[in-house]
Amino acid sequence: MKGGIFVLSGAGLSAESGLKTFRAEDGLWEDHPVEDVATPEAFARDPELVQRFYNMRREQAAKAEPNPAHRALARLQAEHDAPVYLVTQNVDDLLERGGAREVIHMHGALKDALCATCGHRWAAPMVMDIKDPCPTCGTPATRPDIVWFGEIPYHMDTIQEALEDSDLFVSIGTSGVVYPAAGFSQMARSLGIRTMELNLAASGGRFDEVREGLASVVVPDWVAEILGG
Ligand code: APR
Repeated sequence: MKGGIFVLSGAGLSAESGLKTFRAEDGLWEDHPVEDVATPEAFARDPELVQRFYNMRREQAAKAEPNPAHRALARLQAEHDAPVYLVTQNVDDLLERGGAREVIHMHGALKDALCATCGHRWAAPMVMDIKDPCPTCGTPATRPDIVWFGEIPYHMDTIQEALEDSDLFVSIGTSGVVYPAAGFSQMARSLGIRTMELNLAASGGRFDEVREGLASVVVPDWVAEILGG
């Protein structure tokens, strides 16, 4: 037994903190089509529109509070006697604000800005402006540090190593349709790792066990089971 636990989370983890998921009927992609706001092409075409979308999300995320699911995962990371890898597709910082020590943000983070020219990263202001220059090289084309559709997610080597160090893979609040994250459960199975899904409604992916319910309920219950109460 290696003992590690690999947790992959998605928008459902933060839904009860008041942050919209993407693919629900009233989800974010309904009012803001992906191709308008979440691709490099969209940013090249209309950077102001893209910045407005992420400024809106940054403000909402800053006002949101961690919910019991975030706090339970932080507790698991602090108290489990082997590594707990918190890999998230979420760009909010609610896991960190819920007490998590280390979070792997594979799709970037709203709190960071990125210079597309020199690669420098810095703390984004609450309202980013396309005209704000990069503090290092002076280029004006600064962007939110978000992995858009068509771009390569961050930390893939770390994620592979984390999977190899785990005995349990748990998917929480993700529809499992966006790759490469959608392929992690299959990778886990091929490594002989037990797989679980905790979701409001089962995604339809292949897991050894599926528990349906609100993240704020099923996640703390599962963490209590792992930690023995
Ligand atoms: N508790 C648990 N699960 C929930 C809750 C809740 N309160 N509310 C919704 N869910 C589940 C839904 O059942 C769904 O499976 O959360 C999932 C949300 O799915 P998506 O909206 O597709 O979000 P996600 O899987 O995180 O999307 C992946 O796609 O748009 C891109 O880059 C974006 O990181 C995002 C990626």
